[in-house]
Amino acid sequence: MNIIFLGPPGAGKGTHAADFSKELGIPHISTGEIFREAVKNETPIGLKAKEFMDRGELVPDEVVVDVVLDRLKRDDCQKGYILDGFPRSLPQAEMLGQKSDSELTAVIYFETCKDVILMRLTGRWMCRGCGKGYHIKNLPPKVAGVCDECAGELYQRADDKVDTIEHRLTVYNQETKTLIDYYKNKDILIQVNGDFEKQEGHEELEGVFTKLKSNASC
Ligand code: AP5
Ligand code: MG
Repeated sequence: MNIIFLGPPGAGKGTHAADFSKELGIPHISTGEIFREAVKNETPIGLKAKEFMDRGELVPDEVVVDVVLDRLKRDDCQKGYILDGFPRSLPQAEMLGQKSDSELTAVIYFETCKDVILMRLTGRWMCRGCGKGYHIKNLPPKVAGVCDECAGELYQRADDKVDTIEHRLTVYNQETKTLIDYYKNKDILIQVNGDFEKQEGHEELEGVFTKLKSNASC
């Protein structure tokens, strides 16, 4: 199961990837999370990525591709992976195709409308400790400001301000949207409804994964 979750910011990629990574027993690899961790630890890659992330721009392709290819070589990716937020440009998709040994099973595209995206991202809170995501209305923590899982402090992402969200959407439309046709032409694109509430979206994805598993065992 080598899966890509493709879609605009706020489509629910990270939320669903976290759940299905557990259900399928394969790692959830979020390039955004890798970079946020690098920024927190002030590594050379983090220092480079920060300026792009804060502006809502893409981190340069060559930086991202090396990080992902390294990550895919780890043992835990033997049975598969869910890539969340990568690739995000045509060069990234082409480099993944050329340089990774693993063949893609499917690219799941979350079609999501702008109103839903804005509502989700302006209400999102994240845990500083374990990275778990919450939403002020849709997925509130039991205690305000505190993570249910690890009791870590919750914070709002610096790029979840309305202006930066708008810019991320522009970048998505200019750089990433083209990957829908790219993977459609390879016959591995599966579209799901990113506007669905979490439970409904989960059920739709369960159907998708059941079909993929039965295709794999044929
Ligand atoms: P990244 O962290 O990947 O951000 P993003 O793609 O903008 O996506 P988000 O994480 O904002 O959205 P999501 O779809 O994961 O939504 P979530 O599940 O959290 O990247 C950040 C930055 O890193 C980029 O801008 C760039 O600078 C850099 N970067 C990363 N990858 C890169 C790459 N490949 N190339 C270059 N640069 C790269 O959900 C959002 C909220 O909604 C949450 O609060 C959640 O609780 C709620 N929610 C989710 N689903 C539902 C639902 N179905 N119903 C109700 N509420 C829901
Ligand atoms: Mg995410």
